[in-house]
Amino acid sequence: MTGNEIRQKFLDYFERHDHQVVRSSSLVPVGDPTLLFTNAGMVQFKGVFTGTEQRDYRRAASSQKCLRVSGKHNDLERVGFTARHHTFFEMLGNFSFGDYFKEEAIELGWRFLVDEMGVPAQDLWVSVFEKDDEAFRLWSEKIGVPEGRILRRGEKDNYWSMGETGPCGPCSEILLDQHPSSSPPFEEDLESDRFLEVWNLVFMQFVRSEDGKRNPLPKPSIDTGMGLERLCAILQGVTSNFHTDLLFPLIRFTEGFTEKRYDLKGDFYDRTHMSFRVIADHVRAIAFLVVDGVLPSNEGRGYVLRRILRRAARHGRLLGIDNPFLYRAVEEVTNLMKHFYPELRDALTYISRVTLAEEERFVHALDQGLPILSDLIAGGKEKGIIDGKALFKLYDTHGFPLDLAEDTATEEGLSLDLGGFNEAMEEQRARARASWKGFGEGVVSPAHQALKKAFSPVHFVGYEKLSCQAKILALVKGEKPAKEAAQGEEVEVLLDQTPFYAEAGGQVGDQGVLEGEEVRFLVEDCQAPMPGYRLHRGRVEQGTLRVEDEVEARVDQERRERTVLNHTATHLLHAALREILGDHVKQAGSLVAPDRLRFDYSHFSSLKSGEQQRIEERVNEHVRQDAPVTCKQMTLEEALAEGAMALFGEKYEERVRVVSVEGVSKELCGGTHTKTSGKIGLFKIVHEGSVAAGVRRIEAVTGYEALAHVQKGESELGRIGDLLKARPLEAAEKVEKLTAERRELKQEIQKLRQRLDLGLTEDLLAKVKDLDGVRVLVARVDESDPKGMRGLIDAFKVKIRSGIVVLGAIDKEKAILSAGVTKDLAGRFHAGEILKASVAVVGGTGGGRPDFAQAGGKKASRLDEALDKALEVIQHTIQQTS
Ligand code: SER
Repeated sequence: MTGNEIRQKFLDYFERHDHQVVRSSSLVPVGDPTLLFTNAGMVQFKGVFTGTEQRDYRRAASSQKCLRVSGKHNDLERVGFTARHHTFFEMLGNFSFGDYFKEEAIELGWRFLVDEMGVPAQDLWVSVFEKDDEAFRLWSEKIGVPEGRILRRGEKDNYWSMGETGPCGPCSEILLDQHPSSSPPFEEDLESDRFLEVWNLVFMQFVRSEDGKRNPLPKPSIDTGMGLERLCAILQGVTSNFHTDLLFPLIRFTEGFTEKRYDLKGDFYDRTHMSFRVIADHVRAIAFLVVDGVLPSNEGRGYVLRRILRRAARHGRLLGIDNPFLYRAVEEVTNLMKHFYPELRDALTYISRVTLAEEERFVHALDQGLPILSDLIAGGKEKGIIDGKALFKLYDTHGFPLDLAEDTATEEGLSLDLGGFNEAMEEQRARARASWKGFGEGVVSPAHQALKKAFSPVHFVGYEKLSCQAKILALVKGEKPAKEAAQGEEVEVLLDQTPFYAEAGGQVGDQGVLEGEEVRFLVEDCQAPMPGYRLHRGRVEQGTLRVEDEVEARVDQERRERTVLNHTATHLLHAALREILGDHVKQAGSLVAPDRLRFDYSHFSSLKSGEQQRIEERVNEHVRQDAPVTCKQMTLEEALAEGAMALFGEKYEERVRVVSVEGVSKELCGGTHTKTSGKIGLFKIVHEGSVAAGVRRIEAVTGYEALAHVQKGESELGRIGDLLKARPLEAAEKVEKLTAERRELKQEIQKLRQRLDLGLTEDLLAKVKDLDGVRVLVARVDESDPKGMRGLIDAFKVKIRSGIVVLGAIDKEKAILSAGVTKDLAGRFHAGEILKASVAVVGGTGGGRPDFAQAGGKKASRLDEALDKALEVIQHTIQQTS
């Protein structure tokens, strides 16, 4: 049975038993800031277990993409060195949300393995939580597992929790005895290779809150998980997951890049074999992470991807593969998996390009790191050890692999200070842990926290209207609560209700006024430092603002209307980008302001010729369709089920707002929008560029600004036309003509100049003096361009054959001096020396070569004096040398 067939059989079996088959969710958990990656099948159902989310089914089954890079067995540095552990893997699971419980879960699981998959019942053992007598009884009485093959185990092994918080409960595992003929097991056999954990059935009963307390779930539920790769290994009769048809083709594929071979009969723990396995595991993780929107970077998820990719590249090198190859291997992953995960096929080129770019960056990291490592080695020679902190810096900043550093150091007879290295790493981890507080939670000042304690969230009326009566609940002046604010003072105002939109989701905060009987407050910005607490920031323009005052809160309507156009246009742009460039396009940041919108998105190349135009056209088509824009509240789950686009890393409340532009786009969004898309009027891209590797940016304008932009371009063109005396659309042709003409004229000038120089040279020749057999010319000329002067000197040197020439001129109110000495006199005279004193006269500095020198100075009026000085120097040298 192939891996693909096993996955399908699992899903079909549970579908037959009334389970809803649910697609795998993204590796990046949506709306769950407690988790870096999806690490189990239950993650997408967390809210259903805890009762915050409702679905129209109570039984589900899935094959879930999972990623684990830490934990008991999944420490990244060990993956590939063992038979069964992975970063990326697929978890088969069945779930009951308050429907069936232990008995049916046990029966369903056992029957699948024994009856459907044909695993011999006598090879199976089970474990239960030590206090779970009910499970023990069910296994023994209901299923008939001999009591001697039911193990009771403690909390460490048989109690499963999602994480520090979240659903948890006792669990029961089905284990495969790989050496059934062995003697009865001792405890250590459980940790050894003899027993293989196949399936984990979790009897979800509690949810752990932040304070560590376990509270009961609304209803007892079931969450099971079985690694597809493991099941596959068992059914295909191989001793390692890597030898199944899910992974082995990737090993064979990698062999295509190296002389080395993976010998199935050879030593499993041979280094070459380990490298092949590392690569096979990691390329799957790379492909699936990239398709789920993660890009290599130095923090968070991106950093994990970078480490995985570099580790794979490093093992490629160990196999003798020096050129990028992972970008090809990810294509093979796509081939193997695309039937079940069609998103891979849609983003194939993108995945491959992101991988290639990061492989190239790794080569660069090696190029940069190797010299640093050489310095460290040189510095460590005396003590015979390389400093751990410096080593960590090399590893952390340059992504330089530790094992490569170790190999190189050993060759030089040095060891590594691994203690220091680990210490530095631990410090770094602690820092990372401290900074991983989930998303969007900035530091909230004590004054703001106090507001939260004293008042409930502000009622927002700004979706429906732009003004309302409101009461001032509190004032914050310079981080401190205040009772009043006088004219000219800057404060933050909390109202009981407000039409002001507080900056969120890229949309800027509203501006406007708060007006009372004798008071006027200008709102310059509106921000919500804590969700729901909208603070109006600004200045008292007139009167005194007091707590308890009644005011009319009025949003600057024109500014809001312009902002709204840009927000709806952002959604249209997002949809058009995905349509034209592909589904890998994901929003990576945005700004929605009154005068423009800025949209960052994941995409690897710049827009190809024509793409930008097509995107612009597509958005404008949607504008002209004048599609209705509607906003609806629903649960996050409903929204996702309807296919609404959610953003990675955004924290969503349980109830979300979905903004739909009919027939075009559906996005989770709290922003304000136009009633119909037609209001946008015109959408125009004004800039396209790159922000970071794999992230592009588009800036665009709409409505009034778009028209203004077009008009400005047109009027510039008109002006150019006027200047060229051409019709605007003929301007380009005219410019071409002018450029050609200009080129010709330049050549003409060059020719004339040469001729002039010659003429001038003739005149100058007449002024040459013979000083004791040395022919000398010192003269003032009109030629005022330093370059031209040099030409003159060269021409003159040719004419005179042997001699010295010094010329002076005025150029832009500055004196320039040039001196030339013919080759034959070069030993006796030095052009730079000749000019030295003269240059000082005109207030400049400078020297030159023996045969040519040029300098300038500000004192133009002293040019003649300077020339006299040069003559003097020449005469002096002649006397000295003759
Ligand atoms: N959540 C449990 C696990 O990950 C069962 O799916 O093992």
